[in-house]
Amino acid sequence: MKKFFINTYGCQMNVHESEKLAGILHQRGYVAALSNEDADVILLNTCCIRETAETRVLGNLGIIKKIKEKRPNVIVGICGCMPQKKGTAEMLKKRCPFIDIIFGTHNMYKLGEYLDEVENRGKKVLEIWDSEGEIQSAPVLRDGKVNAWVNIMYGCDNFCSYCIVPYVRGRERSRDFDEIVSEVRSLIEGGYKEVTLLGQNVNSYGGGSPQFSKLLRALSKFDGEYRIKFMTSHPKDLTLDVVEAMASSDKIANYIHLPVQAGSDRILKLMNRKYTSGEYLEKIKMIRSIIPDVGISSDLMVGFPTENEEDYLCSENLIKEVKYNNLYTFIYSRRSGTVADKMDGQIDIKTKTDRIERLIKLQFDIGNELAKSYVGKTFRVLCDTVKDGIGYGKSSCDKSISFVASQDRVGQFFDVKITQAKNNKLIGEIV
Ligand code: 5AD
Ligand code: SF4
Repeated sequence: MKKFFINTYGCQMNVHESEKLAGILHQRGYVAALSNEDADVILLNTCCIRETAETRVLGNLGIIKKIKEKRPNVIVGICGCMPQKKGTAEMLKKRCPFIDIIFGTHNMYKLGEYLDEVENRGKKVLEIWDSEGEIQSAPVLRDGKVNAWVNIMYGCDNFCSYCIVPYVRGRERSRDFDEIVSEVRSLIEGGYKEVTLLGQNVNSYGGGSPQFSKLLRALSKFDGEYRIKFMTSHPKDLTLDVVEAMASSDKIANYIHLPVQAGSDRILKLMNRKYTSGEYLEKIKMIRSIIPDVGISSDLMVGFPTENEEDYLCSENLIKEVKYNNLYTFIYSRRSGTVADKMDGQIDIKTKTDRIERLIKLQFDIGNELAKSYVGKTFRVLCDTVKDGIGYGKSSCDKSISFVASQDRVGQFFDVKITQAKNNKLIGEIV
């Protein structure tokens, strides 16, 4: 049997799209390999959000080149955000002539046709589409049996000044409401316990409020215990009706990822985020007044062009005030074609590194304080893995918790009482 291996980089959107690529390969009779070394088809589903993501892909291509030298019949394909970026597909073709298939984000579902070209006609394929076209469905070969991803929309219209996503993912398009409801229903009926709805900007689903809250309410009507999560929410588009829909049902997780990006109003304006730190904090207050035990996480960037010490300290103050469950921190990375790339006042790497180290340390201390305050509390946990007698799972508010558990606990909900908090980690006992 022929085997495939997919190397996935970047966000959950890519993780799920790799499940669709796997679905197409599975339909053609391929089975999953354990590594690139024993695969007949090697795919790289790439990310270009920061330079580091691209460097990782290029590094891996060096290793795959050697595999192709040893086994020339291996088919190598590269797809996703990186080749979709202007000029990158041609660069890859020149720099890595051993790649057989180069395709972008809009034509992923064509993988089967591209494989035909290579397998049956001995041709190479380079196909990048300029625009997104209609939403196309693809078969999905899911990685797990407990958590599932479901796309509700694609693309982004926000054009934050630092971000490459709108250029490589195209304009916002929403999936049909009933199609999403029936996909989620069949996942829940099929035994999945957690479904995460994916979109770059889920709050503008279907053209904006109240479509997303209607969707959440429709997805909370199925029988049995399960959880619906979603990401990502743009703070400017998060509305009261969504928070009320979250509060209206135990089946919608008490968790929201609400990227703030910066604490300084001057920087937020340059980022084109369309809110001030005050407006952001008001939204946090609104969420917490309706769902007191909500878990909130965020993305925050340091070193955006012209960011000075005072701006940076605004970010520190904001995270001290909000006290996030989880904070994903990034060093600003120049992306060609974006507005911020052309701005004066790019920040040197030493200043950026210094700021991110301080930010990480601060969040670590905040996380530790929070973790300690949970000792003695009980959370409803969904166990997603058990390894060497230790179970791992998450609460509805997205806290990661570990506990002693037997293998049969995977995919079950139960109450866990927190007994210890160690370095931001919560350890508990099944009650
Ligand atoms: N540099 C650094 N981080 C970025 N992000 C998006 N673009 C960039 C960039 N050019 C971060 C944002 C976003 C997360 C997915 O990645 O914080 O929310
Ligand atoms: Fe990028 Fe902003 Fe769109 Fe998020 S909302 S994908 S940060 S442009």
